Amino acid sequence: MKIAITGAGGQLGKELTQLFNNKDYEVFPFVKHQLDITNQAKIKQMLVDIKPDFLINTAAFTEVDQCETELEKAYLINAIGPYYLACEAKENKVKFIHISTDYVFNGDKAEPYIEDDVPNSKTIYGKSKQLGETLALAAYENTTIIRTSWLYGHGGKNFVNTIKKLASHTQEIRVVDDQYGCPTYTKDLGIALEKLLKKPHGIYHVTNSGSCSWFEFATEILTFLKAQTTIIPVSTEEYGIKTPRPMYSVLSHKKININGIFLRNWKEGLHEFLKKEADSSEN
Ligand SMILES: NC(=O)c1ccc[n+]([C@@H]2O[C@H](COP(=O)([O-])OP(=O)(O)OC[C@H]3O[C@@H](n4cnc5c(N)ncnc54)[C@H](OP(=O)(O)O)[C@@H]3O)[C@@H](O)[C@H]2O)c1
Repeated sequence: MKIAITGAGGQLGKELTQLFNNKDYEVFPFVKHQLDITNQAKIKQMLVDIKPDFLINTAAFTEVDQCETELEKAYLINAIGPYYLACEAKENKVKFIHISTDYVFNGDKAEPYIEDDVPNSKTIYGKSKQLGETLALAAYENTTIIRTSWLYGHGGKNFVNTIKKLASHTQEIRVVDDQYGCPTYTKDLGIALEKLLKKPHGIYHVTNSGSCSWFEFATEILTFLKAQTTIIPVSTEEYGIKTPRPMYSVLSHKKININGIFLRNWKEGLHEFLKKEADSSEN
C-alpha cells in the first residue's frame, strides 16, 4: 500500500512517516518545500506520479494567536489547502484523510463533543480548520476527518516540551487550570489512524482517553520529571491569554469505540513519551 503524507516536517507528519515505514507501507512524506498544499497543480502532479492508495494531510497553520492576525494565511493553509487536496484525491480516486482539531468547537459544552455536534469556533484557527473540513467533505465523499486535541510528539513544538524547557531554568510556572481537554501522543493517534484507514469515511474523534486541565497536564509532566519547579494554578482570566481557547474541548470516543478502536489513558501515553525523550537524550 502506498501512503502520501503532506506536512511531513511537523510533529504528527514525522510520527506517521516513521510508523508507516516500520509497517512496510510504501511511504511518500512531503515537507512544506517539497509540496505546498496551497499549490493545486503540484498536488495533482504528485498524485499522478505516485498513485498512492491513501493521502494523509497533517499540514496546517497551527499557531492559534498568529492566525488571528494572519487571516489570509490561516484560511489559505487550513481551508483552501485541504479543499485542493480533496479535489485532487477525488480526481485520482485516492482515499483522503485530513487531520482537524477540537478547536472547531467553542468549548461551551459540559460533556464530551460528539462528531455530530455543530462546530462553532470563536477563533480564526478554529474557523479556518472548520472550513477546511466542510470544503474537503463537500469536494469528495471519500474523505475521513480525524479531529484530535492537545497533540505532542517527538521533535515537535508542543506543551510538553515547553513545560520541560521551563522546568529546566524557571523556579515557578503559572498554568491555566480552568481549560479542559485531552492530551494526545502522536504515536497513539498514529496507531488509531492506521486502523481508521480500513473504516468507512466520515468524521472521527481520536484522542487519548481521560481528560484534564492544562494545570493537571503540567503537574503530571513535572512529577514524572521529578522537577523542583513550583507550579501555580491560575484562571484563564488571570493568565490573560491573547486568543480565547475553548474552556472545555474533550472529544467523545463513542464512535471510535463502536469501531473497535480504543486509546490508552493520556497519562500512560505521556509517561512513554517522556521516557523515550529521556532515553534519546542519554544516547
Ligand atoms: N498541535 C496540536 O496541539 C493540535 C491539536 C489538535 C489538532 N491538531 C492538528 O493536527 C495536525 C498536525 O498538527 P502538528 O501539531 O503536527 O502541527 P505542526 O507540527 O505545526 O506541523 C504542521 C506542518 O505543516 C507544515 N505546513 C504549513 N503550511 C504548509 C503548506 N502550505 N504546505 C505544506 N505544509 C505546510 C508546517 O511547516 P512549517 O512549520 O515550515 O510552516 C509544519 O511542518 C494539524 O492539522 C493540526 O491542525 C494539532
